[in-house]
Parts: sequence; C-alpha cells; structure tokens
Amino acid sequence: MLDIGCGTGMNFPLVQDRVGPGGIIVGVDRSAQMLAQARRRAVRHGWENVILIQADATAFSAEQISVEVTRDGGRPFSEVTLATYALSLMQQWENAWETMQQLTVTRGRLGVLDMQRPTGPSALLTPLARTACWLGGADIDAHPWKALERDSAEVRSASARGGHLQVRVGSKPR
Ligand SMILES: C[S@@+](CC[C@H](N)C(=O)[O-])C[C@H]1O[C@@H](n2cnc3c(N)ncnc32)[C@H](O)[C@@H]1O
Repeated sequence: MLDIGCGTGMNFPLVQDRVGPGGIIVGVDRSAQMLAQARRRAVRHGWENVILIQADATAFSAEQISVEVTRDGGRPFSEVTLATYALSLMQQWENAWETMQQLTVTRGRLGVLDMQRPTGPSALLTPLARTACWLGGADIDAHPWKALERDSAEVRSASARGGHLQVRVGSKPR
C-alpha cells in the first residue's frame, strides 16, 4: 500500500490488517515532522512493515521511489495507492497523481479523498469550509478526484458532509 501525503499515518491502522502477510505500507510525505509522528505510531504498534520516505510528491521520480522500496529496480509495486486530504494541498498535484499511477501495478486500486465546496442545502456552510481549507493550505477548487475519474477504470464514488468530502476509488487500467 502506498499513501501519498501520509501525514502522521492516520490511514495506517485502517489498512494494516488488509495488506496481508508480507505486505508493506509505504508512506510518503514532504514534512519531516509529520513523518516523525508516523514513525512513532509505527513503533508504538510494533509495525515492522512500514517504510516512510520524505519527498515532495509533486517532484520525485517514480523510479527513485520504486528502487528505494523494492531494491530491485524501478517498477510499479503498489497494489493500493491512496491520497487522502493531500492532493489539494499540492500546487502541482497532477504530477503527484501521475506518480501515483506509475507506482501502482496494473489493475491495482487507486483512491482519492479530498474536499470541495459543500453543495445543496449545505452550500450555506461554504464560508466555513473555505476558511477551514484555507487554514489548512488546501485549494478547495482543485478537485483532484477528477483525474482519477478520467484515468481509472471501475470508478466508484461517495461523498459526505453535504458534498464537502469527495471519495473516488478506481482501478489502474491495463
Ligand atoms: C492534511 S494532511 C493529510 C494527512 C493524511 N493523508 C491523512 O489523511 O490524515 C496533508 C499532508 O500532505 C503533506 N503534503 C503536502 N504537500 C506535499 C507534497 N508536495 N509532497 C508530499 N507531501 C505533501 C503534508 O505534509 C501533510 O502531511
């Protein structure tokens, strides 16, 4: 599993029992402080299958990351690749999306969770949502899940909090 913009590793407990025996979790984040917290989480739980890499997801080479993880050449290794509340914080998030795809095996699963302005009756909460995104450094109008819809097969979608949270999962096509 590859978690782009993994932060403190809040996704790790959710996927730990899904990666299977011998499976690994690779977390990439540009913040040393976030990774330090993710590392502490891994140590606290005794997880030895967590690899943490400090890198700018919009600028790193997929090959470099792959070699670092697989040790045997630059190839896709991830069966499940996620970016949750992360792509909208990256100015050039399309680069990160490209790399996510390159590091995912054919027919592997990709997932994006991100934010937009609330819709319908919840649109009244737009100023609140905009302020929260602005404070967190996220672009509320980035809509990075649209790249997943464009590039993936078998896309499924869900939303929550009056449309503010948008989730897309799909498969990397052949
Ligand atoms: C709001 S946090 C989300 C953390 C985690 N994905 C979660 O759902 O809890 C966004 C994370 O993206 C990271 N980030 C932002 N821009 C990045 C970039 N260009 N490359 C790698 N990580 C980045 C931040 O350091 C931060 O840890």
